[in-house]
Amino acid sequence: MLRKLTLSAIAALALSTGGAIAAGGESHVENFSFSFEGPFGTFDQDQLQRGLQVYTQVCAGCHGLQYIPLRTLADHGGIGWTEDEVRAYIDENFIETYDDALQDWRTATPNDNFPANDGVGAPDLSLMAKARAGFHGPYGLGINQFIYGIGGPEYIASLLTGYTGEEVEQFGSVLYENTAFEGGYISMAPPLYDDAVEYADGTPATVEQMAEDVSAFLMWTAEPHLMARKQLGLVAFIILGLFAVLLYLTNKRLWAPVKARAKGTPPSA
Ligand code: HEC
Repeated sequence: MLRKLTLSAIAALALSTGGAIAAGGESHVENFSFSFEGPFGTFDQDQLQRGLQVYTQVCAGCHGLQYIPLRTLADHGGIGWTEDEVRAYIDENFIETYDDALQDWRTATPNDNFPANDGVGAPDLSLMAKARAGFHGPYGLGINQFIYGIGGPEYIASLLTGYTGEEVEQFGSVLYENTAFEGGYISMAPPLYDDAVEYADGTPATVEQMAEDVSAFLMWTAEPHLMARKQLGLVAFIILGLFAVLLYLTNKRLWAPVKARAKGTPPSA
């Protein structure tokens, strides 16, 4: 009976993982290396600023970041601007917000969020880097996720660099072949081309560079306190480590008389 159950469980597992391979087999996510990976990884402030520039000048035409307050651009551990720089960013980019009380549009303040934008059916990008896992497998067991991390920013960077140049027309709309997108065809036209933006810090704006920068920026929007969380984790790790040593020593000390006594007496029959 038990054997039968085990066998059918194995068979079910094999079937379900087979299905996962078939469904996800087409999408390919490249393992980009980001500065914020690993237990000591931190955001690269220059990269976040470049990513914000790509987002503002390219992606914001179709996408929104409606859950991100503009003032967080001045947060420590992220973009790291001063409040004046945040205001200048709002002015330069004519960022407006709809004011319910005024029933009209007005210039945004740092306390407003980035605008929402779903006019062309583009999803909001605030949490996209955490919503899309880039790494699954092998066989849907999540082992790759365990080793490489969840892979959200890798997925976005792979998506932006994954266009093959092929297009198909389906029911009147054009779909673009993309090696990272599940199903192989996405309705987002390739948003990046070389020199789509001119970086203030002089970094050459290749498609790959912009893709990585904007993906890092979207990781920050999805998890702005990543660095603080890692630091706290490290402190907790050290304290727990010390505690474990103390516990071991205390334990030894506490039982030392009992052990000494046990050694001296023969085992009772
Ligand atoms: C011309 C409009 C347009 C621009 C510009 C644009 N996108 Fe998109 N994007 C879309 C649309 C439409 C979709 C929905 C595609 C679909 O589901 O087929 C989309 C989907 C996405 C997705 C979600 C893919 C998924 O797994 O569902 C991501 C991530 C994304 N875009 C990132 C970006 C980034 C980053 C930029 C800037 C470099 C950008 N987009 C620029 C229109 C745009």
